[in-house]
Amino acid sequence: MSQIEPEIGGDAPIAVDLEDGKTVWWCACGRSKTQPFCDGSHAGTGLEPVAFTPTRSKTYFLCTCKRTQRMPLCDGSHNALGAAPAGAPPSGSD
Ligand code: FES
Repeated sequence: MSQIEPEIGGDAPIAVDLEDGKTVWWCACGRSKTQPFCDGSHAGTGLEPVAFTPTRSKTYFLCTCKRTQRMPLCDGSHNALGAAPAGAPPSGSD
């Protein structure tokens, strides 16, 4: 069985302030219009959103390209898709 390839939801991570213990749902299909969060657009894709519950209140850089190996955190994989825009965090930052 082949793995389903998500769409590219963006070309850089989005910085979001998340609260300790408050679960959010990260878009894994790349179709959401409310990146990096799920808006239900995954219906019929075979992909499901990923729950993320922070253990600290802070700013997290959530992946939008959907190629990270550290879901939902950016691991710099978007850099392989093309040039990163100015202001993008360094590879592997969270
Ligand atoms: S936005 Fe996907 S790895 Fe950085």
